[in-house]
Amino acid sequence: MGLLTLVVTALALTRGASAAFGLTSTSTRFKVDTDGGLVFEVNRSNGDITSLKYNGIEYQGTGKASAINSGLGTSTVTGETINGYVKITVKASSLPLTHYFVAKPKEPTIYMATYITGEIDPGELRWLARLRTSELPTGVHGDAGDTRGCEAFEGKDTFKCANGRTSCKMYTSDRFIDDKVHCVSGSKASVCMVMPGVAYESSASGPFMRDINSQTGSSDQELYWYMNSGHVRTEPWRFGLQGPYAMAFTAAGAKPSENLDTGFFGGLSIQGYVASNGRGSVSGATSGVPEQFETVVHWHNTAAQYWTKANNGTYKSPLMKPGTYSMKLYKQEFLVANDTVTITAGQTTSKDIASKEPSTPAIWRIGNFDGQPRDLKNGDKIERMHPSDSRMGTWGGSFTVGTSSAKDFPMALWSKEGGTATVTFTLTQAQVKAHVLRIGTTLSFKGGRPSVKIGSWTGADPGAPKLIDSRGLTRGAYRGWGDVYTWNVPASAFKAGSNTLTVGVYGSGDASWLSANYIVDALELQD
Ligand SMILES: *[C@@H]1O[C@H](CO)[C@@H](O)[C@H](O)[C@H]1NC(C)=O
Ligand SMILES: *[C@@H]1O[C@H](CO)[C@@H](O)[C@H](O)[C@H]1NC(C)=O
Ligand SMILES: *[C@@H]1O[C@H](CO)[C@@H](O)[C@H](O)[C@H]1NC(C)=O
Repeated sequence: MGLLTLVVTALALTRGASAAFGLTSTSTRFKVDTDGGLVFEVNRSNGDITSLKYNGIEYQGTGKASAINSGLGTSTVTGETINGYVKITVKASSLPLTHYFVAKPKEPTIYMATYITGEIDPGELRWLARLRTSELPTGVHGDAGDTRGCEAFEGKDTFKCANGRTSCKMYTSDRFIDDKVHCVSGSKASVCMVMPGVAYESSASGPFMRDINSQTGSSDQELYWYMNSGHVRTEPWRFGLQGPYAMAFTAAGAKPSENLDTGFFGGLSIQGYVASNGRGSVSGATSGVPEQFETVVHWHNTAAQYWTKANNGTYKSPLMKPGTYSMKLYKQEFLVANDTVTITAGQTTSKDIASKEPSTPAIWRIGNFDGQPRDLKNGDKIERMHPSDSRMGTWGGSFTVGTSSAKDFPMALWSKEGGTATVTFTLTQAQVKAHVLRIGTTLSFKGGRPSVKIGSWTGADPGAPKLIDSRGLTRGAYRGWGDVYTWNVPASAFKAGSNTLTVGVYGSGDASWLSANYIVDALELQD
């Protein structure tokens, strides 16, 4: 063997050793080199991730491991290489759950999927990476979930910080329909959760559900993907395969593509995985939703859920599992039509859907009936801070028809906080007759619902709506059942000239911000 050959062989070996894709193991851990800059380690006794090195820097936090929930406990953990992919299977001993970690050559990404056959104690299911705040100080939505230097003041999860700023991990959430990639970041890298394609098909509560994405503490930067929780949940759990989803490492500030291809899971013997050829779809026309609103189509049954946004009056669903589904059409988030559809594997079904929303000419209308409180006062802030935050505008308010804007009417009312709201309007003599008063709400807490009064007339108490047993508004949630209330107001309530509607709250509950409350979508006095 000549000298030259020897040198070349040595170089090849060196390169191979420093960056070879694959799985190695000791009696206590599996180590995966992605050959894409990321090397991670998995504890063989419980499936915890104990090391996440990207470009030589350790990102795994120093206290607790990264895992499903807060760790699965004793598990059977196996590792193998299939079709050129590394697959680690974690079968929990005491939970109806199997979790998968998958690595693909040259990608600094941990692909995952979580198979469940029952609800997971303690009533939620999440991927939780406990990363280092020192390396990744910026959370999802900046400091919305940054609790450093802050003190808990509501529950254990809502904090008061310097200068009246409030913080809560719930304030980092985004609507599932929009939340395909979310990241925490630092000066050398970003780490992102990616939920591509139909990753949410076995989660619950539809396209507008929002859940925790990150929490920044002094030691750990927590990065989450919530598959199920009790945070303003409106549907029971679904079982089967959650995902596939991924945790991807990228250059600082970069976002991985939301169109991550996970089709290769089909060749990896993943329990519950349904490949494209076992699925079908539905497409058609939507109509009746005015252009300024998003048109959203949603399908759900007890096994799966899907959604899509229509574009220019047409939609195409994602690839769905076969079955019969309820189908809903939303104007933004306001339900405007229902139907059902049956999906058959290998076929595209046709189905058109039209808004059934009646047109209601109004003497006045405040806000849009769109299922969101964004156009009302503080509606632009409520997702990211507590109602007591110093950055919030005042609560309550006086709205004068003709001179006020929607931003003068509060997006929420409480029974023991924040005052009432009034609407002052002028009627001609001809308009002094019976009218319908309609108030749309998006979420209620502790049975809160509107009380209404015009002149000497007091509207009947509509009764408490169906309870969602979860703090909502104070944790940035606005989406619940979307109850709409109407009253037939007699002519005797009105007079020619100036009239005043006073809107308050029926319901009780604790003091202050946790008293009965509801979130306002829009209100109108129909002609
Ligand atoms: C792996 O898990 C076992 C059981 O919980 C624990 O005793 C051990 O310290 C863990 N190893 C590492 C490296 O974290
Ligand atoms: C929208 O749909 C109309 C009618 O089907 C069509 O004429 C038009 O070109 C479409 N516009 C876009 C931007 O696709
Ligand atoms: C949707 O269906 C429910 C239950 O059948 C019904 O109460 C509701 O009025 C329907 N809504 C629309 C907008 O069609």
